[in-house]
Amino acid sequence: MDDGRSRGDRPVSHRSRKAAGIPSLDWDGKECPPGQRLFESRSILNVEGAVPGGLLLRADARDAAAHLMEAHEGRVNLIYVDPPFLVGSDFLATTGAGTGEKCFAYSDRWASPGVYLCLLREVVVLCHRLLREDGVIYVHVDQRVSHWVRCIMQEVFGLSRDRGVIAWHMGNGVKARRQWGCAHNDILCFSKGDRFHLRSERAVLREPFADGSVRAHFRSVDESGRRYRLRQINGREYRYYADEGRAVGSVWTDCPSMSARSPILEQSTGYPTQKPERLLERIIEASSDPGDLVVDLFCGSGTTPAVAQRLGRRWIAGDAGRLAVETTLVRLLALDGPPGVEVSDLVVQEPASLERLASLLELEERHSDARGIRGRLGDRRVLVTDRVERAAKGDCDWVFLVGSGVEACAAFDAGRTGVWRCHPESPSSVSPGPLCFASGFVLDAQLEADGRLRWSMQGRYLRRQGQARWIEGAAGIESIASWMLVADGRLLARGRGCPPERIDASLLPAAGCAFDVTLRVVDAYGFDGRCTVDRECSVGCEPARGRTTLRRSP
Ligand SMILES: C[S@@+](CC[C@H](N)C(=O)[O-])C[C@H]1O[C@@H](n2cnc3c(N)ncnc32)[C@H](O)[C@@H]1O
Repeated sequence: MDDGRSRGDRPVSHRSRKAAGIPSLDWDGKECPPGQRLFESRSILNVEGAVPGGLLLRADARDAAAHLMEAHEGRVNLIYVDPPFLVGSDFLATTGAGTGEKCFAYSDRWASPGVYLCLLREVVVLCHRLLREDGVIYVHVDQRVSHWVRCIMQEVFGLSRDRGVIAWHMGNGVKARRQWGCAHNDILCFSKGDRFHLRSERAVLREPFADGSVRAHFRSVDESGRRYRLRQINGREYRYYADEGRAVGSVWTDCPSMSARSPILEQSTGYPTQKPERLLERIIEASSDPGDLVVDLFCGSGTTPAVAQRLGRRWIAGDAGRLAVETTLVRLLALDGPPGVEVSDLVVQEPASLERLASLLELEERHSDARGIRGRLGDRRVLVTDRVERAAKGDCDWVFLVGSGVEACAAFDAGRTGVWRCHPESPSSVSPGPLCFASGFVLDAQLEADGRLRWSMQGRYLRRQGQARWIEGAAGIESIASWMLVADGRLLARGRGCPPERIDASLLPAAGCAFDVTLRVVDAYGFDGRCTVDRECSVGCEPARGRTTLRRSP
């Protein structure tokens, strides 16, 4: 029987599945028009070279997959997908090491389940194309959507490529009263081709036998004192050792979620929904070998690339969220690796509309009114508009103008406003405005042993005072959106707005240690600057644009 599996790159059509008697899932808008996006890609941050084979993308998963197609179609060994679960709320991250400060991580709100399923289906179809013939995909969801997603995957991959559902028992308490409290997530596993190779002999895919079973069945002891049992299978005798354990099945209870989420544990990044490294270790060991290519397009805090890197796999990771990419970057920098880390430039795409710019900025509390789109960036009230007269009412802290000409800015005289730069590579086509980072900025900083942080920022900005003109100075400080302080790749502290005058000295590495501290600020336009600081004096700084090299102390 035709099992409805895909032929070549394309999933079989609805009609032929129906003819073969295979049920399929239908919803309004299932075949959503190509190009329709809920998340706009903002930039692609490429850290190729940070670690061998590593590539980090900030992009919608669909754009990232499409971007990878040319070089990687049919070449990926393993894909892990851990998308939002249709929860209907926003997720906050705990930032500011030890301060408990929260900031927006990502939204899991959807207009309807159908809109959510459109994203999932498109991602699954693209991932199917990226996989090698012997490649495997794991899709991590929960009981809200797993039945739908499994149907979609059976349509795309075929029934015979369904390799089972892992019930991951998170080990958290449950408190539901109206229904059974859900204590597990579902991880759906599909192979692209007929072959499915599970490396169940590897240690992380084994679990100990129950004590009773060891006592009852493993009664023999070999010359080195190991307990074993003999079994006859199809006329052959096999020896099983008690200390080798047994292959894990589809219920995983030994990768507690707490190991990734507890702030006192090293792997915890504060990112919500972070998965434990052991969970990824098991998946990666089960379905790949050292040197294989592992892809995760919803990488969140970077668990997959961090584990893949540690296990000697090549990896490509992506996420649509700014915080996710920053968290992943910090996590990867902290791994043992080559001493030099190169971070390549941020490529900002041209915003085309108010809607697009508003989603690029990831405004919180976003809503529209007669003047444009409003929202917040941290504690700043933001208006995104295309008419400067609408902006000059003083009821917001920052205004982002889209597509306005110089004339439109003539009456606009507020220091704390900004204009989106359309073409970061060519200053001549920057949309002019009262304040704009044009040629980047240079940061300089000193950190005293008592935690006092002196920093300054100088740049070349386009400012409008009568006529638009380039100015040199520190005016851009007003548009700093966030800062972070990283010591030898470990996040020390972070926050919104300008860096503080002092950070908690107890967070610093011990006195006398050689260490590099990097201060990084990101401005409201998405441009970032970073510099290396030490306790004595500034030891160097890098321009915000261009390649940045972070060097570790020998
Ligand atoms: C459940 S979290 C992933 C957590 C991750 N596995 C970890 O261990 O930290 C889901 C992630 O999907 C990202 N995301 C949501 N929609 C996306 C999209 N369309 N494309 C790419 N990433 C998206 C969110 O920013 C979030 O980081």
